[in-house]
Amino acid sequence: MACKLEIEPTGDIVEVQEGQTLLDAALRQGVYLPHACNHGLCGTCKVEVLEGEVDLGDASFFALMESEREDGYCLACTATAVDDVVIEADIDVDVDARNIKVKDIWGTVIKREMLTPRILGLWIELDEELDFQAGQYINYHVPGFDEPRAFSLANQPSTGKIIELNIGLIPDGEATPWIHQNVKVGDRRKITGPFGRFFVKRSANKPMIFFAGGSGLSSPKSMILDELENGCTLPITLFHGARNEEELYYADMFRDLEKKYLNFKYIPVLSNNENPSWSGEVGFTNDVAKKLYNNQFTGNKAYLCGPPMMSEACITALMQGRLFEKDIHTEKFFSKA
Ligand code: FES
Repeated sequence: MACKLEIEPTGDIVEVQEGQTLLDAALRQGVYLPHACNHGLCGTCKVEVLEGEVDLGDASFFALMESEREDGYCLACTATAVDDVVIEADIDVDVDARNIKVKDIWGTVIKREMLTPRILGLWIELDEELDFQAGQYINYHVPGFDEPRAFSLANQPSTGKIIELNIGLIPDGEATPWIHQNVKVGDRRKITGPFGRFFVKRSANKPMIFFAGGSGLSSPKSMILDELENGCTLPITLFHGARNEEELYYADMFRDLEKKYLNFKYIPVLSNNENPSWSGEVGFTNDVAKKLYNNQFTGNKAYLCGPPMMSEACITALMQGRLFEKDIHTEKFFSKA
C-alpha cells in the first residue's frame, strides 16, 4: 500500500510505494533530498521523522547512532514508510537546480575505447533520452553486483540518447575491473539517474575555474562543453592534472576548443613528466593555479573533481587566495569501486 510522505520545510508531498525508500520516492518525483552514498553509510540523508512511523532499514550504526534513532531520526536512503510520514530535512535552496525526476533507462553499449591505460570510455545509446544537468551522475547497474556504481556523465546534454562514461580502473576494486574486462559492444545495461547537485551555478554569473584529475575530468568536460555550446562568454579555465602525457586525455579536443573559443583556457599539468619536449606546466595543479592567478581567486567560481588529495590541496590554495567556501564546488558522491 502506498503512503504519503510530506517533506518540511518545503511542504512537498510525494507518494512512497511499499518497500521503496523515502529518498528514492522523493528523487523519482523530482523532489530533492540531500544524499551521497545511497546505502546507509555516510549520514548525508539524515532526516527527522516528525509524524508517522518508518522502518529504519539497513542504516549503519555509524551513520545513524543509537541516540539519533531514539530521537526520531532516520536515513532517507534506507528508511521505508510504515504509514503516512512527515519528515524535516535540511535542504539548501539551489536556484540553479532543475530537480529533474530520477528514472531507470535501458541502453546498448555502442562503443568502448581505452582513453588512457587506466580509463575506459564507454558510450551507451539509451532507449530514451536522459534529461540531466551537465555535471550530474548516474548509477550504472553491473551484472552480478548488488549495488550499482556511480559514474559522472562525460557527455553534455546535447548528445541526445548517447551518453559517455569514463571509468577509471581501481585495481583492488570489484566492479571497475569487471567492467574493464567484460563490458562489450552490444551489451544491454540499465542506468538510473540523474543524481547530484554538481553543475554550473549560472545564476552567479562569475568566471569559472575547473580542476580535474584522473577520470574526474568527466563532469568538467560535460559542463565546459555545455557552457560553450550555450554561448557562455564568461572566462572558463580548465586545469587538468595527470602524472604524464599518457594519462592526459581529451587534450587535443580541449586545445581545439581553446582556439575556437577565446574565453576558454586549457592548462594541462603533469606531476611526473619525463618527456623533455613537454612544454606545458609541470608540478601540482594547486601550485600552478596559484602561480597563474597570482594567488588571487576572488570573483571566480571553482569546480573541483578528482582524487581527494588533489581536491584538498586545491581547496586550500583557493581559500588562501581569498575565494570563499560558498564559491568552491566539489562533487559529493560515494560509490564502491
Ligand atoms: Fe543515505 Fe549516505 S547514508 S545517502
